[in-house]
Amino acid sequence: KFEKIWLTFGIVALAVFLGVVGVSAFSQDHTPAGGMDTIDPKKVNETAPFDKPGVTQLDDDTYQVAIVAMAFGYNAPDLKVPAGKEIIFKVTSTDVVHSFTIDNTKVNMMVVPGRITTKSYTFDKPGKYLILCNEYCGTGHHMMFNEIEVY
Ligand code: CUA
Repeated sequence: KFEKIWLTFGIVALAVFLGVVGVSAFSQDHTPAGGMDTIDPKKVNETAPFDKPGVTQLDDDTYQVAIVAMAFGYNAPDLKVPAGKEIIFKVTSTDVVHSFTIDNTKVNMMVVPGRITTKSYTFDKPGKYLILCNEYCGTGHHMMFNEIEVY
């Protein structure tokens, strides 16, 4: 008699477990946490705006900067943006979690594969700013830096 109870319990537990796994797989596929934009990390290079990384002028007062972070660097050619205009940074990763941090500014973004992280920033002063990775991302971590020129 006890065996039957344990067998029933086992089947119920298994059903609950499979249900939880199924629900979490479903929700990961269909509801991105926090409403962030998702992207297929394997198709970053063919997905706009990351197919053409760098600076794009959106209108008189707004610029977009698309950047791909990966070990061991940032794919971000020709980073030159004006001071006093809104700069919208869009960053994603093709491999592991990185950060996109601009020294001496409030820009400190976590960059996650499969997600597009967006941050708007306006530089007050022209100059050259150091971009670096604050998130330990493997052997290439200390080689991840770049420069953005504000004119
Ligand atoms: Cu990328 Cu540390």
